[in-house]
Amino acid sequence: MSLLVLNSIAEKFSLNLWIVKSWCENMGLTNQVKAEEFFRTHEDIIKARPFVKWVGGKRQLIKQFEQFFPTEFGDYFEPFLGGGAVFFNLQKKKSYLSDINEELINTYQTVKDFPDELIAFLSTLEHSKKCYETIRAWDRVKDWQKKHTNIERAGRFIYLNRTCFNGLHRVNSRGEFNVPMGAYKNPDFVQATNIRNTSELLRRTEAEIKLESFEHVLAKAKKGDFIYLDPPYDTLTETANFTSYNKDSFGRDMQVKLAETFRALDKKGCKVMLSNHNTPFIRDIYAGFRFEIVSARRNINSKSDARGGVEEIVVLNY
Ligand SMILES: C[S@@+](CC[C@H](N)C(=O)[O-])C[C@H]1O[C@@H](n2cnc3c(N)ncnc32)[C@H](O)[C@@H]1O
Repeated sequence: MSLLVLNSIAEKFSLNLWIVKSWCENMGLTNQVKAEEFFRTHEDIIKARPFVKWVGGKRQLIKQFEQFFPTEFGDYFEPFLGGGAVFFNLQKKKSYLSDINEELINTYQTVKDFPDELIAFLSTLEHSKKCYETIRAWDRVKDWQKKHTNIERAGRFIYLNRTCFNGLHRVNSRGEFNVPMGAYKNPDFVQATNIRNTSELLRRTEAEIKLESFEHVLAKAKKGDFIYLDPPYDTLTETANFTSYNKDSFGRDMQVKLAETFRALDKKGCKVMLSNHNTPFIRDIYAGFRFEIVSARRNINSKSDARGGVEEIVVLNY
């Protein structure tokens, strides 16, 4: 089907072009009537949305990002997955999703494989300080992950994410989650419909969900594949450290390593898109590539100077 036809379907169902294009390819839909029938009957899966709030999440930027996505590409890779806003916006088969946050990755795997069991566990929890503190305290016990099922761990992750202060994910030096409870009136921490739809979406896009660092993308991505890189932000203050001191921090040494990976993917013939703060350091390490600027509005930030508009740079090799 031509882009013109795909566009008209997108308009008719209030969807974006990428979702329409992906599903037509995913399902082998080559004529307009069949495609429209599919979009009419599969609205629920297509409407799946990120089920965790994530600091640095791209949901607010997605409309500005759409103009930069390539219209033609092979497989899709999102190695800094977080809330996965771009994955949900592209819905591409096949998708490779990864992150180094173990609890996050276990949660995606559980949503994909055991949605009903996960919903059943979440439904046993309640929105109260007592429940919040009990669930949060699981990780105060040695080898706590071995004492709970993957479903319980995923439930804990979603419950804390939806009820804690601003959806922050923060652990102390002992790896203990230490964010206080948020002030929500009636948070929907079960999200039964969205969990079921996301599960279906992850299955239909044959999403491969892995706990691994971003460098691994290099071994799998092939010519023509699309890789979206959304690392933890470069610092806006110049006093910041150059080195990452612990496994969870992403200092400038890691930004440099990522820029090397970007260049290697470029050499392979992949289509690569990266977003970060628009700092002189980032412009320097990506010198030679195409730069686009978008303006982001942060609300999950305790520093008042960063609450207003912050410029974000998009680096593209195409
Ligand atoms: C800015 S967030 C991504 C936000 C995501 N795009 C969204 O829309 O929600 C950065 C993510 O990178 C992950 N991360 C940090 N270091 C990493 C590494 N070395 N390899 C892969 N992921 C890493 C963090 O766990 C976090 O989920």
